[in-house]
Amino acid sequence: MSTVKPLKIALIIGSLRKDSVNRKFAEYMVSQMPDHVSVVECRIDDLPHYNEDIDTDTPPESYSRIREQVKDADALLIVSPEYNRTIPGGVKNAIDVLSRPFKNSVLTGRKTAFVTASPSSYGGRSCGFDLRKTMLPFEAPVLLAPEIYLSNAYDALDDEGNFTNERTQKYLKKFVDALVEFAEGK
Ligand code: FNR
Repeated sequence: MSTVKPLKIALIIGSLRKDSVNRKFAEYMVSQMPDHVSVVECRIDDLPHYNEDIDTDTPPESYSRIREQVKDADALLIVSPEYNRTIPGGVKNAIDVLSRPFKNSVLTGRKTAFVTASPSSYGGRSCGFDLRKTMLPFEAPVLLAPEIYLSNAYDALDDEGNFTNERTQKYLKKFVDALVEFAEGK
């Protein structure tokens, strides 16, 4: 009898607001993961702005926590809005935290995947490109396809703000399947 190896995905949601459309999309993706996949959401709202002076042998607890969560995962998924044509400060801060200690970063070689969403017609694409760029120093394998920049994101929500749009759900399901294969190394 073949056993399926459990898979762990660390998830960063780039928006901190409670009604975030990115959160809704991320939660849908989590709901579509197969049973052998567990997703750990990594908080980013309590990470102090990255500062080498506090990143000592005893760093802030939140720095250690997110580093452990990502280290423990087969892949890192970031689902994020775009702010001012690039990466929201909170997400960039989390990447900076994860990038240290120098030469011993948990991002080194870590499989990563990105989804961006925006009410605009560009879908946060500029942020998506910049996120990919941040992984270059770590030689982190990035899931290249399908590329998902969800445009007109609010249109995917119904009058109550629930994510019900079947076409967008289909895209995201396809992305989830690709992500699981990628994380499994297939
Ligand atoms: C935005 N927004 C935005 N959208 C975009 O497509 N490109 C951009 O450059 C920006 N810039 C930007 C800056 C700031 C500070 C805010 C607050 C917003 C709009 C953004 O896409 C929209 O608010 C999304 O709904 C944010 O995602 P969540 O919070 O719904 O997940």
